[in-house]
Amino acid sequence: MAQEDIFKKLVAHCKEYGFVFQSSEIYDGLGAVYDYGQNGVELKNNIKKYWWDSMVMLHENVVGLDSAIFMHPTIWKASGHVDAFNDPLIDNKDSKKRYRADVLIEDQLAKFEEKMNKEVAKAKKRFGDAFDETQFRETNPRVLANQQKWNDLHARFSKALNDNDLAELKQIIVDQEIACPISGTRNWTDVRQFNLMFGTEMGSTSDGALKVYLRPETAQGIFVNYLNVQKTGRMKIPFGIAQIGKAFRNEIVARQFIFRMREFEQMEMQFFVRPGSELDWFDQWKETRMKWHRALGFGDDNYRFHVHEKLAHYANAAVDVEYKFPFGFKEVEGIHSRTDFDLSQHQEFSGKKIQYYDPELGKSYVPYVVETSIGVDRMFLQIMAASYNEEELEAANGKKDTRVVLRLPAALAPIKLAVMPLVKKDGLPEKAREIIDDLKFDFKCQYDEKDSIGKRYRRQDAVGTPFCVTVDHQTLEDATVTIRYRDTMKQERVAIADLKGMIANEVSFKALFAKLN
Ligand code: GAP
Repeated sequence: MAQEDIFKKLVAHCKEYGFVFQSSEIYDGLGAVYDYGQNGVELKNNIKKYWWDSMVMLHENVVGLDSAIFMHPTIWKASGHVDAFNDPLIDNKDSKKRYRADVLIEDQLAKFEEKMNKEVAKAKKRFGDAFDETQFRETNPRVLANQQKWNDLHARFSKALNDNDLAELKQIIVDQEIACPISGTRNWTDVRQFNLMFGTEMGSTSDGALKVYLRPETAQGIFVNYLNVQKTGRMKIPFGIAQIGKAFRNEIVARQFIFRMREFEQMEMQFFVRPGSELDWFDQWKETRMKWHRALGFGDDNYRFHVHEKLAHYANAAVDVEYKFPFGFKEVEGIHSRTDFDLSQHQEFSGKKIQYYDPELGKSYVPYVVETSIGVDRMFLQIMAASYNEEELEAANGKKDTRVVLRLPAALAPIKLAVMPLVKKDGLPEKAREIIDDLKFDFKCQYDEKDSIGKRYRRQDAVGTPFCVTVDHQTLEDATVTIRYRDTMKQERVAIADLKGMIANEVSFKALFAKLN
């Protein structure tokens, strides 16, 4: 099935099974804003727990923070967001649609890549086992021609971005003959900058209202609390502050479901280090974060680093962790060496000294910062995309059957255990409830008695429940149940008394954390 179709199915699945809903749906929705349903909120909370505990429990020198969304407006002037948190925009005059100029060009680059990959796939099919992909890529004229086009465009695009040259971005779009996907025309406006922050007012206008912003990143809340945490926590450098919270951006190209939203959640950690040591710490955090992603078991080859062509105004090194989504490799997390830019700016704008006295060096300095920043919602989408499987099964009567199964890591699954009475009578429902009453303090359980057992299993597969327990007449005689495993669909008879131990082992975060050490 085409990757695009899989993605469409995944979006539909998220709605059908209570993971993600369009915000304000009964009013026809609000663009790029989403709500999480009964299963989505559980998965989201589990993702946050995986991140939070891996930061503040596994690292003695990382502590948490929960700062307010509203902050003093000068913070955004100091951080550079008022002046430089912009996207280059271009409008198509016929469709009146607005696009990010850089995204249009990136899509063009992706088209060249796609053409090369198609040639490779065709040749692979033709030559079978004897196929040498490296040699093919180095010699095939069509691949080489597309590679050359890619290289030329990439070099020109990187330069335009680095030079902040908006006229050149427009010229690239013209030269590449990029057309509006809606109108099909190349009738473009000039490229101009558009600030992504949402603004509002605090206080009544008669008092002289204060213009405030909805934070576009959680990081600034950490920077402005650096001194508070360092002093009250008696923290010694190197140390980190971690925070999970909402962020808001007036995204223009808001597409691909929850990949790019206007209201989203970030999990950010700022690690304060000695000046000069930041690039070593940057490498260490790159490795730590990649391990965290790979520990989920979705295949090491599906992740890669992407080194930034254009560094943000605050960074001296930056990479993204990218995952192979159904629509290609895309950023899930950013790791940035932010130098002392933010703390120095806040020192200057606030007039307060923001420094650290280093007893080993016997001097004070403004710490340097390495940041890890990941979107909860984007991580959610990555996990859903990686877990979603449509499987063909051999049915008992020899006919083909299919099931949709979410192969979620058990620790992240919204429901850990479904308990099902085989029939709705003979005391089986009561026994099932008794089992839930015992296990509900340890795991999120669900009682399900509607429809055939087969249908109930499918329902649980579709939300990723790793264990289903069936209570039957034998249960009443010998206190055993059937446990069915989501991934293998194997079933076995076990004692009720053993359930807790068996499930606890599998759904615990410990197994994931053990892979991080
Ligand atoms: N403090 C640094 C910072 O905010 P960023 O690369 O702009 O860096 C970090 O964002 C992460 O936040 C991204 O890797 C992505 O996972 C997530 N993110 C950013 N913008 C987003 C959006 N509009 N919708 C959903 N997630 C977003």
